[in-house]
Amino acid sequence: MKPIGPLMWEHRLIEKMLAVAGREAEKIRESWKVNPVFIDTAVDFIRTYADRTHHGKEEDILFRDLANKKMNPEHSRIVGELVEEHKYARATVKRLVEAKNRYIMGEETLSEIVACLTELVEFYPRHIEKEDKRFFFPILAYFTTAEQDAMLREFHEFDRRMIHEKYRKVVEAAGGGTVAGPP
Ligand SMILES: [Fe+2]
Ligand SMILES: [Fe+2]
Repeated sequence: MKPIGPLMWEHRLIEKMLAVAGREAEKIRESWKVNPVFIDTAVDFIRTYADRTHHGKEEDILFRDLANKKMNPEHSRIVGELVEEHKYARATVKRLVEAKNRYIMGEETLSEIVACLTELVEFYPRHIEKEDKRFFFPILAYFTTAEQDAMLREFHEFDRRMIHEKYRKVVEAAGGGTVAGPP
């Protein structure tokens, strides 16, 4: 398998979750009520899966290795855009969490919540399309087969650590203190 295989597979799951979030935004508009549990679920998905696990592999492994290659100007420009887009997604999720927290405290932040959800629902498919259609296949050519195999192994190792990192954070947030991760 090529290293872009798992990334593209992850895109399909991200698209599905964002489609659900789009339907939820509609529901909020119609009922004028927010289900904070859904927002928590969507935020956890985006932060842990789409950002830490998926963007993590893109930024910490793929883009890191690309930085050592002599890329053509178009591909360098796209890497810069993708990194900025990841930052934008993080900032939008942060705004969504803040709006949801204020909603729970009784503040009228419904339109803000809908706006953040809608931004994310519109953002991710565009971002994913750019990677899938204009970036992943051409940049593979910068890597030898051995380099691609090594990258795939590193992706798997990165994923293996994620479940432990995620639940270490859960325990820390619950007040359980800091625990060292498994090797
Ligand atoms: Fe990305
Ligand atoms: Fe991606």
